[in-house]
Amino acid sequence: MLEFLTLLSRRWRVVTAFVILGIAAAAVLTNQVQPSYRAQAQLFVAFASSDDNAASLSQGSLFTANRVKSYPDLVNSPLVLDPVIAELGLDVTTEELAGRVSAEVPPNTVLIEVRADDSSSARASEIANAVAANFITVVEDLDRIRSSDPSPVRVSITRPATAPGSPRTPIPALNIAVGLFAGLGLGLAAAAVREALDTTIKDENDIESATGLPTLAAVPINPDVGQTPVLTPATAAPVWSESYRKLRTNISYLDPDNPPRTLLVTSALAGDGKSITAANLAASLAQSGRRTILVEADLRRPTLSKLLGLVPDVGVTTVVAGRAEAAEVTQRFGDFDVITSGSIPPNPSELLGSQAFRQIVQQLRETYDNVVIDTPPLLAVTDAAVAAVAADAVILVTQARRTKKPELLKALYGLRAVDANVAGVVLNRVSGASGSYYQYTSTRPARTDRKRARRSSAQG
Ligand SMILES: Nc1ncnc2c1ncn2[C@@H]1O[C@H](COP(=O)(O)OP(=O)(O)O)[C@@H](O)[C@H]1O
Ligand SMILES: [Mg+2]
Repeated sequence: MLEFLTLLSRRWRVVTAFVILGIAAAAVLTNQVQPSYRAQAQLFVAFASSDDNAASLSQGSLFTANRVKSYPDLVNSPLVLDPVIAELGLDVTTEELAGRVSAEVPPNTVLIEVRADDSSSARASEIANAVAANFITVVEDLDRIRSSDPSPVRVSITRPATAPGSPRTPIPALNIAVGLFAGLGLGLAAAAVREALDTTIKDENDIESATGLPTLAAVPINPDVGQTPVLTPATAAPVWSESYRKLRTNISYLDPDNPPRTLLVTSALAGDGKSITAANLAASLAQSGRRTILVEADLRRPTLSKLLGLVPDVGVTTVVAGRAEAAEVTQRFGDFDVITSGSIPPNPSELLGSQAFRQIVQQLRETYDNVVIDTPPLLAVTDAAVAAVAADAVILVTQARRTKKPELLKALYGLRAVDANVAGVVLNRVSGASGSYYQYTSTRPARTDRKRARRSSAQG
């Protein structure tokens, strides 16, 4: 049930689209179908008897009851219909009219219901009445033994047909309802199929089930990230900046006695938000009074100098090449220090795997409380995995509804292969529609507490 509700909440658009389509299709079809009206006349069959003793009366009624059973079949015989066609000047063949005329004897009665269907309401009643009138003539004739005899059967019209006010088919309300339910069914099926085919990471549970890793923070989409990429105490997006504080806190909880200080940020693919996450993690660490440096180890597509408005010429590559000290290429942004990539080298992997790079990180670790390292995507190049060796903990950024489970897993295996300490996942770009997400994460401890409480009360 819960799964059904999550499916609905995630895929309500598909379901709604199908429902609307179903209703629209039903409306269009209803509109195109020619209406069919049914008019009905009622006949009464009596046995006309000359002498009225009881025996002949009961005999007569038995005769009538039996006789009446065979009458409905007569109603669409040419004998009855041909005069109707002529009389009303209908443009149909006998067979066609036969298909639209029927009769029925309600059980245990001597009544005959004569029905006629037509696209015109008035014509339907005309046909029904004409058929009824001709039927009477034909039946009374047939039951006469000699043509001079009076007919032993008398059929009379008890209720003439009147023009029906509304068509028998189509019934718009019914068709719309059918369209609605068909659309709903198809929509739910489509939603289920899409859900089954969709392997993207959507929430904490997906991360947990795919990797077993904790979600350190859920970062909402921030439309202002272009203008203000790095949080400040006065950032206009409080939920967004709060999520990085949450990330900072959760990292400190990872190992309370010895929290990881060198933090490497990476992800499966480009554009997941590694650089934004790294910069804001550095900013939130600095905000809590920790001496923090952000190091750009993305030596392929460096973005930090542009993002933070720093000088791009010197940086990590300059220091690794031995042309400068780390302190000489360190720049300041807000409360924290930054070393950008420097000029792009031909062999980034080798550079990041070098002893020199490890020494720089080690040296910065002595000067600063925290070193945050921004890296290239893991599925593209090995750089991040190589650099991960120099870090205490690795933070994997995942883009909500974009990163696929297999991609995340592949990235994770790449890190595990070099024995990196993968601390957890940052779920980035959580959509505003599921804005309750932030609340969801903050209520999570309460949930587990409740679970725990239930468990212990079950034991106790
Ligand atoms: N939470 C977010 N909300 C809105 N845009 C974001 C968010 N995180 C990242 N972005 C945008 O996504 C793009 C890629 O981010 P970036 O950090 O450069 O990715 P990466 O370093 O993984 O390639 C950038 O344009 C950035 O502004
Ligand atoms: Mg980047």
